[in-house]
Amino acid sequence: MSGLLITGGAGFIGGNFVRHWMQKHPQDRVVILDALTYAGNLESLEDLEADPGFHFVQADICDRPTVQALFEEQQINRVAHFAAESHVDRSILGPAEFIRTNIEGTFTLLDVARAAWGGDRDCRFLHVSTDEVYGSLETNDPAFTEAHPYRPNSPYSASKASSDHLVRAWFETYDFPVLTTNCSNNYGPYQFPEKLIPLVILNALEGKPLPVYGDGSNVRDWLHVEDHCRGIAEVLERGTPGEVYNIGGNNERSNIEIVQLLCDQLDRRQPGARPYSELIQYVTDRPGHDFRYAIDSSKIQQELGWQPKVAFDTGLEQTIDWYLQHLDWCERIRSGEYRRYYLQQYGSRVDETPG
Ligand code: NAD
Ligand code: TYD
Repeated sequence: MSGLLITGGAGFIGGNFVRHWMQKHPQDRVVILDALTYAGNLESLEDLEADPGFHFVQADICDRPTVQALFEEQQINRVAHFAAESHVDRSILGPAEFIRTNIEGTFTLLDVARAAWGGDRDCRFLHVSTDEVYGSLETNDPAFTEAHPYRPNSPYSASKASSDHLVRAWFETYDFPVLTTNCSNNYGPYQFPEKLIPLVILNALEGKPLPVYGDGSNVRDWLHVEDHCRGIAEVLERGTPGEVYNIGGNNERSNIEIVQLLCDQLDRRQPGARPYSELIQYVTDRPGHDFRYAIDSSKIQQELGWQPKVAFDTGLEQTIDWYLQHLDWCERIRSGEYRRYYLQQYGSRVDETPG
């Protein structure tokens, strides 16, 4: 039985991964380390807490003594490292926390794990990263492969790029058994409503403006979070140490297309007095806004047989339904801190702000 440490397991993707792993490996001991920042919510894991394999520790990944004690006491031999500051707009407003958590936190985990594991080749450390480290593509550029040069453009992507470089160096220098995944934009249940898809769903239901940055033509590749979690599990179990795996949905959409799709689906599921698309507002663009991301995931497909399974239309419908059924969850996590952030981010850009 292995001791799997999942950092950031109370966040969006980490929480979905905890659920995925515990279903597939009911015998495993899963230790979740999460600081419960504004983005972490233990309520998302409530139904798993009674499971004897489930252990939660509230701590910061930069807190070395606590991380060290966890490795010793819980006999950790696998790490899935999700914990991060993850929102680009927040990184523009305040980059310091991104540098601390994403770079210093990853360093602390690598350093502690290496000391704890010695040369044990049975151990594995998987670092969860993003396609944003590769920078921005033009319309006709080929999709990012694992060999694409790093050109991060936001404080968020620069901090993730730095952490990827640390992970790489730990393999090259210390032969430390790392794996890295770089994934495109995720959507699905439990995503914090500061990100595009849940923000649009909730604003629409509340009759608030749907803020579209610039002219809405920026393109993202969207992948359902369950597909991402399956990919991470495959890499953790069967990936080659030292290797990088790109994970993507082969599903490029412009932002305005996403917002329009959400409006259309909401019009059918929860019709308002007027079409939701009337709430769309084009607002000042994000500084340094990457134009396009696209992922070439042929490596993970060929080496590990992974493929995205959730069709986008179905995934989006299920996601809307999940939010409609969990409005109380959304209300509870939209704390005073979130309201302050929303005002700072959107206050002067859109007509209305949340009540
Ligand atoms: P999230 O913001 O929803 O969750 C982050 C979690 O990390 C939260 O539970 C938070 O409490 C925790 N955390 C933050 N700082 C911490 C610290 N110092 N110590 C301990 N815990 C801390 O993020 P997410 O969207 O679930 O992303 C998870 C990972 O996946 C991140 O590393 C992100 O870079 C990467 N990623 C995200 C996407 C996406 O579309 N969301 C795409 C590709 C990669
Ligand atoms: P986001 O969900 O923040 O993810 P990322 O910046 O990591 O790709 O944003 C997705 C896209 O949607 C991005 O191009 C920015 C855009 N966007 C808006 O147009 N309006 C918004 O209110 C938000 C949050 C994002």
